[in-house]
Parts: sequence; C-alpha cells; structure tokens
Amino acid sequence: MAIDFHDVRNRTSYWGRPADPSWEAAIRELVDPVGAVVVDVGCGGGIYTRAWHDLGAAMVLGVDVSEPILAAARAEHGQLAGVDFRQGDAAATGLAEGCADIVFERALVHHTPDLAAIAAEAFRVVRPGGTYLIQDRSADDTAQPASPTHPRGWFFEVSPRLVEVENRRRPDPAVLINTLTAAGFDEVTTTTLWEVRRRYADREDYLAEIAARTGRSILHELDDDELAELVEQLRARLPHGPLEETDRWTIWRATRPA
Ligand SMILES: C[S@@+](CC[C@H](N)C(=O)[O-])C[C@H]1O[C@@H](n2cnc3c(N)ncnc32)[C@H](O)[C@@H]1O
Repeated sequence: MAIDFHDVRNRTSYWGRPADPSWEAAIRELVDPVGAVVVDVGCGGGIYTRAWHDLGAAMVLGVDVSEPILAAARAEHGQLAGVDFRQGDAAATGLAEGCADIVFERALVHHTPDLAAIAAEAFRVVRPGGTYLIQDRSADDTAQPASPTHPRGWFFEVSPRLVEVENRRRPDPAVLINTLTAAGFDEVTTTTLWEVRRRYADREDYLAEIAARTGRSILHELDDDELAELVEQLRARLPHGPLEETDRWTIWRATRPA
C-alpha cells in the first residue's frame, strides 16, 4: 500500500537528519542560494528547508500537503530566522505569483501523478528569470546496482515486485523535460548526483530505520513479513560497522524566461 502522508505515524519519516555536503555541493553548482527566496515544495520534515537556510538563502518557505508532517517540521526548524512553513498542495500552493527566486521539489514528483499541474504552479510561483529544481529518481536511478554504500539496490533483489512499483511511479526523464517546456520553462538541463543520504555509526542503526519504514516510502509497499525478510537479507549482505548510504538522483533544472 502506498504511504499515507496524512497518517500521524509517518510525521517524522522525512525528518531528523541533516542534508549532506554532497547535496550542498551539487546545489551550489546549479544555482546561487545566497540571499535567495526559496520555496521548498513537498518539504516533509524540513531537512532541505533548513539546508537552503544554511546555504545562505534569505527566506525559505516549506510547503507540504500534510499537517502532521508540517507540525514536525515546525517543531524542529520553525525557530530559524527566515524559515517558515505552510500547508499547501504542489499544484495549488496559494503563494503569490513570482514570489520565489527558486522553487525546489525533492522526492515529490513520484508521489504526484499530474506533473503538468505541478510544473504550471511552479512556473507561476517562480519569478521571471528564476529557477525551478526538481530532484527525484528516474527508473534508471532506482536500478543502480546494490553495494554496501547503495544498499537500496538490494530491496529489488529481495522483493522483485518493487521494481514494478518504481517503474510505475518514477518520472520518465524525457516526459518530464517535455512537461517543463510545455509549462513555459526553458534552458532545461539534467544532472545526476550520488547523494549521501545518511551516515550510520553501525549497520544496526540503518536496519532499525528500515524496520520502521522511515524515510523510504517504497517500504510501505511491503507487508510486515516481507519487511522482516528484507531486514534479514540486508543484515546478511552488509558488513558490521559504520555505513554510508548513497543514492543516485537526477536534478532537472529549468528557468522561467525573464
Ligand atoms: C518523500 S517526502 C520528501 C520530503 C522532503 N522533500 C525530503 O526530500 O526529505 C514527500 C513529501 O511530499 C509531500 N507531498 C505529497 N504530495 C504532495 C502534494 N501534492 N503537495 C504538496 N506536498 C506533497 C508529502 O507530505 C511528503 O512530506
């Protein structure tokens, strides 16, 4: 079953870890965050809302459809100067036209089937000359081979039906580029990024997150027995000791013409 973002049990699923320097470096290559007004749509627990603040943005507004998730984001990051959160849908944020220098959406579009509606709203919210960044995984990104630094690859070896789930929900890069162009954006480029998601002191800390389905919506597609089997199979494949988890992502960068 797909994750229910409105379920209070999932309020801290996308929360409680810092963005990694590998992400910060990739963003600095794509856009100048210093002094920018940024809207982080589908902000979850505000990990990246805070990261934009730390990169020097003047104002960051996190927008999310889920009130429980926003409550966790506010509790953790709401006290930061220039950081705010509000409830809204990616296709109808309620924000003023042209209010943002940068609209950012990480791990959102594979949860939102109407890409055209989301791109149209981003086009409306970003100012002329501003930047729209979509960070998500294509089906190809999700198919990267498993290794101790990319354990997510083993999810599909252990539970092959998850491949179909990913292929169904992940954005097709060519379709997404066409959607951005049809919405009015130009200068559309793509970049791939191996982002360190989290560093763990020990394998068991990582496995505890997997067992709790934290931060990985695809684990909601498994029943409890399948999840327990996955945890055992991961334990058998991963060495003892510290673990650095990386995932491959694609970032689509587009400009609203000035
Ligand atoms: C996978 S989480 C990603 C959270 C955060 N961007 C990150 O990368 O850590 C997806 C988030 O998008 C939100 N979301 C899903 N559909 C949405 C929509 N139509 N409009 C706004 N937010 C949405 C969910 O509530 C959830 O917080």
